[in-house]
Amino acid sequence: EVGRPQLEKGEDFHMSVDLMEHLLSIQDKAVVDGMFAHAESVQQKNIGNKVHFRGIVEFSNVCRKNCNYCGIRRDMEDVERYTMSKEEILECARWCFQNGYGSIMLQSGERTNRAHLNFLLDVIKSIRKESLELDVEQRQGLGVALSVGEQSKDVYQELFDAGAHRYLLRIETSNPHLYSILHPRDGLHEFEIRLQCIRDLKQVGFQTGTGVMIGLPGQSCRDLANDLMFFRDEDVDMIGMGPYVVQEHTPTGIEYLSRPQITKEELFSLSLRMLALARITLRDVNLPATTALQAIVPNGREIALSCGANMLMPILTPTRYRKEYQLYEGKPCVDEGADECRDCLSNRVKWAGKEIGLWEWGDPKHFFRRT
Ligand code: 5AD
Ligand code: SF4
Repeated sequence: EVGRPQLEKGEDFHMSVDLMEHLLSIQDKAVVDGMFAHAESVQQKNIGNKVHFRGIVEFSNVCRKNCNYCGIRRDMEDVERYTMSKEEILECARWCFQNGYGSIMLQSGERTNRAHLNFLLDVIKSIRKESLELDVEQRQGLGVALSVGEQSKDVYQELFDAGAHRYLLRIETSNPHLYSILHPRDGLHEFEIRLQCIRDLKQVGFQTGTGVMIGLPGQSCRDLANDLMFFRDEDVDMIGMGPYVVQEHTPTGIEYLSRPQITKEELFSLSLRMLALARITLRDVNLPATTALQAIVPNGREIALSCGANMLMPILTPTRYRKEYQLYEGKPCVDEGADECRDCLSNRVKWAGKEIGLWEWGDPKHFFRRT
């Protein structure tokens, strides 16, 4: 009997891994609700009532990797591969800017060839240039965040110099053994490389985000508690995490379906606890309510806004490409367009009793405290 945990202010940061594990597995509803309420109060104190939008453009599903859980892994032959043109991406960026989203996230599969990187550098520079020209109010233009996988430190520097200032690279799990099970053992998918990349990104000067999947086959509450310790130890600025959602034609999907599974409700609750504990222990980081939450519970994203999340990432990818960027089954918003996603998510923010921080980058305070 561990007893009802006391979450004293100021001590949260030093919360032990045992207590985190306990809070992730506890069933007592009063404790869980108390944890969510505490996360909300930590958020109000450190972040305020605003929610920021970051439009996400999934500009290419071409990927050199073959992660065992992913619906667009290299071996998926039924996926039609696409790369949006520069003009198509710029069109999304214009829409993003004109609708008052402070920043844009360019996400794709991992590609390292020079021609593609040059294309990306050109796109980043053009987005920055155009948005500064459009910015009659002399604000800071559109912030550019990237999520394009593992690259060399030199490439990260080039991307930074081109004008990107944020980067998201999930560690997926901080347990190296679990990581090795979730990825092919071919030298290309190494935990150590991923970790080094996250550290390189910070050194280059990016606002750096990482994150994990929650509810992976073979993952324990202890692993998740260690993930939270990892975020704290690596001192990252942003944490993007969401439930693992099965893709039945992948190796991890097959493995997952062969085991007894937790219910969607339990998985959702576990995901919210992770968000709440991340907010409580890390305080001023950016925590997006990820799309995968909505894949398991229809109003999952707005519920998350009351449990520690402070950002939403509306999808801007043109509708015709969306069905080819399905990392998992039941990914929401596949038939919608950018206007619909904006209206829908604005309603979700209002529903959660929060304000939308338009025209702002929404930088994590954590970054300025750290640098
Ligand atoms: N379920 C949930 N998230 C997934 N991702 C990839 N496949 C899945 C899945 N089946 C996540 C990974 C990756 C991000 C782009 O998408 O965490 O980093
Ligand atoms: Fe590629 Fe990312 Fe999918 Fe891995 S998770 S296969 S790197 S798109």
